[in-house]
Amino acid sequence: MLGILIGIAAVVLTVGLGLGSQQEVGARISALGSNLLIVSPGSSTTTGGGTTTGGGTGGGGGGGPVDPAWPPTTGQAAMEAFGDCMTLSDWIESGMPLIATQIAEYQNNNVPCYSCHQSGTEGSMALPDPNGADAAADVEAAFEQMRYMYSSFGLIRWSVNLEDGSYKDIAPSYRLRDKGTGQTNHPTYELNAANLAALDQWYALSRARFDAGPCDPAAPGDPPAP
Ligand code: HEC
Repeated sequence: MLGILIGIAAVVLTVGLGLGSQQEVGARISALGSNLLIVSPGSSTTTGGGTTTGGGTGGGGGGGPVDPAWPPTTGQAAMEAFGDCMTLSDWIESGMPLIATQIAEYQNNNVPCYSCHQSGTEGSMALPDPNGADAAADVEAAFEQMRYMYSSFGLIRWSVNLEDGSYKDIAPSYRLRDKGTGQTNHPTYELNAANLAALDQWYALSRARFDAGPCDPAAPGDPPAP
C-alpha cells in the first residue's frame, strides 16, 4: 500500500466539488509541491462524503521509458508519449523560451527567471536566457529537458479515473504559471499575458499532435530511466 503511494505526496479527491472549487483546490495543492497527483472522477457519482481513495494509482513509481502501447494506458506512458509529441518548432513558435525573461521579485530586486534557472537545475526548471550568447543551444537543451519531466510534472500532469485508478487524461500542470504566487519562498511573479498565451499555445499545439498520435517514440531526448 505504501509502495503504491511512492512519489505521491498527496492524493486529492475533487469529487462532488464544483469546477471553481476544483480549480481552487488544484491551485492550492500545486502550491504545496511538485509530486502531486490530482485525482478527478471519470463520471461523477457521489453525494458528498467520500474522502478516501484507496489504493488509487501509482503515479510515480516505475521504471524507465515506456513507449510502445498506443493509446497509452498509464499516466507515465502518456506523459512520455506527450513529450514525444512536443517539437522544438512548436516550443519556439508559441513563445515558450521567452518565459525565461519574465521578471520575478526576489528580495526586493526584480530579476528574470533565467538569472536563477539558466542551468536548469532549480526545481528541474530550465529557463535559459533566450538572448544569451548560446541562446539557440540553450533553448534546445532546455526544451529537451522540459519535455520529459514526468517526475516533477513541470509542464503536464495526468488524471485518473476514480473507479479503478486507471489513467484518464493529460492536462497542463501550470507550474510555470503558479510557482510565483507567493505561497512558498520562491520569488513571486505573475506571468504576463504574452507568457500565459505562450503556455496555452504550446499546450494546444502539442496536444493536437498528441491527439493525432502516436508521435515519434524515438525522438531525440527520449528520457533516461528516472
Ligand atoms: C532568485 C532565484 C530564482 C528566480 C529569479 C526564479 N526562480 Fe524559480 N526556482 C528557484 C529555485 C531555487 C527553485 C527550486 C526550489 C523550489 O521549488 O522552490 C525554483 C523552482 C521553480 C519551479 C519548479 C518547482 C515546482 O514547484 O514545480 C518553477 C516552475 C519555477 N521555479 C519557475 C520560475 C519562473 C517562471 C521564474 C521567473 C518568472 C522563476 N522561477 C524565477 C529559484 C528562482
